[in-house]
Amino acid sequence: MKTILLYNIGQLLTMESDGPVRGKAMNELDVKEKYAILIKDGKIEAVQPESELIDVDVDEKIDCEGRLVTPGLVDPHTHLVFGGSREHEMALKQQGVPYLDILKQGGGILSTVRATRKASEEELYNKAMFHLDRMASYGITTIEAKSGYGMDQETELKQLRVAKKAKENHPLDIVSTFLGAHAITEDYKDNPEALLDEMASMFDQIKEENLAEFVDIFTETGVFTVEQSRRYLQKAKDKGFGLKIHADEIDPLGGTELAVELGATSGDHLAVTTDEGIQKLANSDTIGVLLPGTIFYLGKGEFARARKMIDEGAIIAISTDFNPGSSVTENLQLIMSLAALKLKMTPEEIWHAVTVNAAHAIHRGDVAGQIKVGRKADIVIWDAPNYMYIPYHYGVNHTNTVFKEGKIIYKRGGLLG
Ligand code: NIG
Ligand code: FE
Repeated sequence: MKTILLYNIGQLLTMESDGPVRGKAMNELDVKEKYAILIKDGKIEAVQPESELIDVDVDEKIDCEGRLVTPGLVDPHTHLVFGGSREHEMALKQQGVPYLDILKQGGGILSTVRATRKASEEELYNKAMFHLDRMASYGITTIEAKSGYGMDQETELKQLRVAKKAKENHPLDIVSTFLGAHAITEDYKDNPEALLDEMASMFDQIKEENLAEFVDIFTETGVFTVEQSRRYLQKAKDKGFGLKIHADEIDPLGGTELAVELGATSGDHLAVTTDEGIQKLANSDTIGVLLPGTIFYLGKGEFARARKMIDEGAIIAISTDFNPGSSVTENLQLIMSLAALKLKMTPEEIWHAVTVNAAHAIHRGDVAGQIKVGRKADIVIWDAPNYMYIPYHYGVNHTNTVFKEGKIIYKRGGLLG
């Protein structure tokens, strides 16, 4: 029975909310000062004014020295498990070769598919654990992880099993998504429907082995059409999976509208969603997961119209989209800066988007994204004087101490020597 008291906190964001936070309410942030947090056996025992807790007898007292304290961050869209890397594509990007052209030529996602098929389960596992450690260092305590670099049964299952094993052995919480419908491989070029049938035939096994909670698809020009996506996702829904869509990333095909129509948990990217799509999103419970790192990294295209989405009442989360091609970073803090600079989101909106709303986008609203009595003590102490500082000072790591279930999993070290 270990008890820890966090005291001398500067600003405390608990992000307490009964549900996801939408529209204008995203801009209202409750900032507590002179509060302390009592942790008992990895759970939050009390969050009260410091004067009420400071004399409680505990095993360890941690002086936060006036720093900002928040819930652990939640990253609701990552492609965690993959083989190889794609640094050779950077020159093509610089020459202006479009992302979808690289894919059409057998590169892009398909190049990672080849590397992932070749990699052993152990290699993929070690690589995933490495990236998870880095995510933890950036203050992330819960993530979603997609498959999608197999597009054959064997490799998709290999990816999902790696994610499951990582979940068992890494302190971070991982929520799995089956993205078997991520691209069209050479052998299915003339018959994408057959690839979708092949992937849908795995739904039962994935359910039985508890390998994924969500099913996702890349609805895009040259990949899967809205009609194909609808049929595929409907089958997944009938089997009891939560739904996600890579929607309206490059061409506005209507993936956002489809996400709303099917009652998807989230529609992701939404960079080129139409006015009508935004209105539908705003009137729905589907969460818009925006990925500004991808647009920044691809070097072209539009940033999602977050302002319009939020102003019209949508529920918005943000994420790294960590993957080896279109957004190669585990740094969700950098994405918070891009959300401020490129999506014009306020710091208050951004904190909702990486905590409570991100947790709801992966069905973890009841366990992650908030500092609340009875919950796991997933907490970050930041080297920052206030919550606005994190998006402001960009590109670096501001974490001082990261707790997962009350255990310190990362601590900023001093310089050696
Ligand atoms: O979310 N757009 C599709 N999928 C990923 C990219 C995957 C890749 O390029 O390897 C995304 O951007
Ligand atoms: Fe993605």
